[in-house]
Amino acid sequence: MSTDSHSTSAMADLTPIVKLSAVNKHYGPLHVLQNINLEVTKGEVVVVLGPSGSGKSTLCRTINRLETIDDGSIEIDGKVLPEEGKALAKLRADVGMVFQSFNLFAHKTILENVTLGPIKAKGMKKAEADKLAMSLLERVGVANQKDKLPAQLSGGQQQRVAIARALAMRPKVMLFDEPTSALDPEMINEVLDTMIGLAKEGMTMIVVTHEMGFARKAADRVIFMADGQIVEEATPEQFFTNPTSARAKDFLGKLITN
Ligand SMILES: Nc1ncnc2c1ncn2[C@@H]1O[C@H](COP(=O)(O)OP(=O)(O)O)[C@@H](O)[C@H]1O
Ligand SMILES: [Mg+2]
Repeated sequence: MSTDSHSTSAMADLTPIVKLSAVNKHYGPLHVLQNINLEVTKGEVVVVLGPSGSGKSTLCRTINRLETIDDGSIEIDGKVLPEEGKALAKLRADVGMVFQSFNLFAHKTILENVTLGPIKAKGMKKAEADKLAMSLLERVGVANQKDKLPAQLSGGQQQRVAIARALAMRPKVMLFDEPTSALDPEMINEVLDTMIGLAKEGMTMIVVTHEMGFARKAADRVIFMADGQIVEEATPEQFFTNPTSARAKDFLGKLITN
């Protein structure tokens, strides 16, 4: 009997949190996502690398349906991403997203930025939302900024607030699209360290980044995209020491000489 319950829970754990099957998308004549197949399991950290214009942002945006797809399917924790309506809103809450530009609400305090989602989308009581938000702001190291407006914070602090805001929805997966690209160099590490902390706590993450140090340190798997296709998939160790495709070799070569 105990064996049965064990195997049941082991099977449940194998349901990918994100699963893309034969996903295609066009922007007019541009085939921006070409037959993308990708499974991300619970707790896995997948780093997406690739040259500009290869479709990385589009990939992220389809996963929480900021963009539609032409065909194929996207599942979040075993449920097909619905076209629209309440079911979409519910499933979308499972997918946290952090963009390059922090886009916090400029006229709301840091605390309000984090509590808004749980209150509006989940009907959480203010006191409970405040408590949750404060614990998340602690975790990302900006609790002492709670009463300020976003513009009063540094870029690195704002991006950590954006991470706390996404976490407040209790997502099953976090998507990061170049979260440090708009930051001054001295602020990059505080954001990457926050992300490394999340990864260590077991958060499932898909991270588009040009920070190769982060990829080496935190990624379970690296995906290399070029021209709308997943060209290569490997462990960071394999990818950085022994890339197989010409596109990946070219990409890495340019990074090193820059
Ligand atoms: N809304 C859009 N309409 C038309 N073309 C787009 C749109 N968004 C992105 N593209 C094009 O799709 C390609 C992939 O873009 P993107 O996903 O942003 O790539 P990446 O994030 O890897 O730089 C690029 O050629 C880009 O110009
Ligand atoms: Mg992009």
